[in-house]
Amino acid sequence: MDHLVSPSLLASDFAHLENEIQMINRSDADWLHLDIMDGVFVPNISFGFPVIKAVKKIAAKPLDVHLMIVDPDRYLTRFGEAGANNLTVQYEACTHLNRTVSEIRNLGMTAGVALNPHTPVLLLKNVLPYIDMVLIMTVNPGFGGQLFIKESYNKITELHKMIDAGGYNVLIEVDGGVDTSNAGKLVESGANVLVAGSSVFNSADPEGTIRKLKRLF
Ligand code: DX5
Ligand code: ZN
Repeated sequence: MDHLVSPSLLASDFAHLENEIQMINRSDADWLHLDIMDGVFVPNISFGFPVIKAVKKIAAKPLDVHLMIVDPDRYLTRFGEAGANNLTVQYEACTHLNRTVSEIRNLGMTAGVALNPHTPVLLLKNVLPYIDMVLIMTVNPGFGGQLFIKESYNKITELHKMIDAGGYNVLIEVDGGVDTSNAGKLVESGANVLVAGSSVFNSADPEGTIRKLKRLF
């Protein structure tokens, strides 16, 4: 399949959110990535339900919601009601991951699991049959605009092999420090979904940058 592009709204201009979302609507982007941070799991706070609901009213593309919060089980229903199409939880925040991802699917969303840079992909072996996507964090979660961690390429290749060997229908998403210089190698390594925040919104031509991320080859 062709890879997907999911621009991260975290790097957008919140004072002109409607314009930013309309730009995404017009662009080649496939999804819209929303980063939810609680100030506990990560040392930063982003935005919550009222903002997601407001975004949902304008967005023409599926909402790809990435939870960087402790105890996500408390809020799964509310993220579904707010308009999430995909809901990704952090592996490190879930004691009963199998239950959590099953609940996400029961609520009508696709289920993703995110791995911090230090978390090995092998830990997902027994949950791959129950999820739709794995998000490989290619920076330490919490902030946009950080430097891409190069060891991530091997992690993606390893995960790609695991998914292939099991015959699972699971996408690999990469998130953090993704730009037009590393996107090609990421896709060649096995990434199916590219999240990009600052490389899109800080560029002179965000729509053009999304187009470049989409048409890499
Ligand atoms: C980081 C978030 C990312 C972030 C990526 O914790 O999960 O989605 O927005 O931003 P960039 O692309 O600027 O690294
Ligand atoms: Zn993210």
